[in-house]
Amino acid sequence: MSLPPALIVRYRAFLAVTDATPVISLGEGATPLVALERLGARFGVRVFAKFEGMNPTGSFKDRGMTMAVSKAVERGAQAVICASTGNTSASAAAYAARAGILAAVVIPEGKIASGKLAQAIVHGARVISIDGNFDQALEVVRGLAEVSDIELVNSVNPHRIAGQMTGAFEICDDLGQAPDVLCIPVGNAGNITAYWAGFQAYHRAGRVSSVPRMMGFQAAGAAPLVLGHTIDHPETVATAIRIGNPASGPQALAAIADSHGSIASVTDAQILAAYRLVATTEGIFCEPASAASLAGFMMRAEAGEFTDGQTVVCVLTGHGLKDPDIAVANASPVIRIPSTVADLERAVFDG
Ligand code: F0G
Repeated sequence: MSLPPALIVRYRAFLAVTDATPVISLGEGATPLVALERLGARFGVRVFAKFEGMNPTGSFKDRGMTMAVSKAVERGAQAVICASTGNTSASAAAYAARAGILAAVVIPEGKIASGKLAQAIVHGARVISIDGNFDQALEVVRGLAEVSDIELVNSVNPHRIAGQMTGAFEICDDLGQAPDVLCIPVGNAGNITAYWAGFQAYHRAGRVSSVPRMMGFQAAGAAPLVLGHTIDHPETVATAIRIGNPASGPQALAAIADSHGSIASVTDAQILAAYRLVATTEGIFCEPASAASLAGFMMRAEAGEFTDGQTVVCVLTGHGLKDPDIAVANASPVIRIPSTVADLERAVFDG
């Protein structure tokens, strides 16, 4: 069986890749676009989940990281660094290991999901925790990248954004056209920026005849773009998007304005309800931050925002296994019984 070519080879025409660029790949991309038929029927739209949890390290970050690490190696960098709420660090650690270079990852103390921390550690990254949040971590990491030769692989690195455009390309390729609406969680605001750039690039190249409206969703306790000011102490159960000062905020707001889209916040309760719904009724286990897109979709659909038959894609950015503690804390308890058939029968059929 032959594997599909690496993402940056497949979409080479849209990326700054040359024969001199090494391809540091783990087989990222080509993630499933899953039709959510029950949810679609409920609201009279065609709704799909772009399940980015199926990337090699379990999140969309791999699309940008294959590009950023390949370009870093091309220019001879020996080390990469990032600030992270978890997924970027897992991805940077894996791709740096693949490239044979050092990764240093800086994380907010105590606020990173255990699966993500495990990934960074297992891949041999230098894991550094600061007494501060993501925004402060990004500030010090940017400071070090300015005065040293280490390659910064947060989404302020343009190669990250370029690689992440491929999510939009795949959606268009799978649908045969652009969707009417894209719903996406917003944290540091790189991904919404990348998707919009991707849809525009495909449109300019004549691959699709339209571009979608971009609908971004932040967690209510971490919604600087909705409120119009930075937040010093962001808080949300969706730790991946616990960000108060998004680096790509202006680009995200431009994407929303240019696409006639919108930005709104969803509460932790809405996020967790969507997280449970998609797991129990569609079989998709995403992480809480990812469910912000779905929670936002449902909020908009209930407000009558969509017309019949429209196509909506919700980006589910990361895998649910990343955050087992949240999963267990929000699930029905395990039923404990003595090991007899009668007890088992009662437990299975009566609950
Ligand atoms: N969903 C997940 C699962 C994420 O990990 C992130 C960001 C986002 C959504 C938001 O994307 O920042 O491009 O707007 N995680 C970053 C990290 C901040 O460090 O892993 P964004």
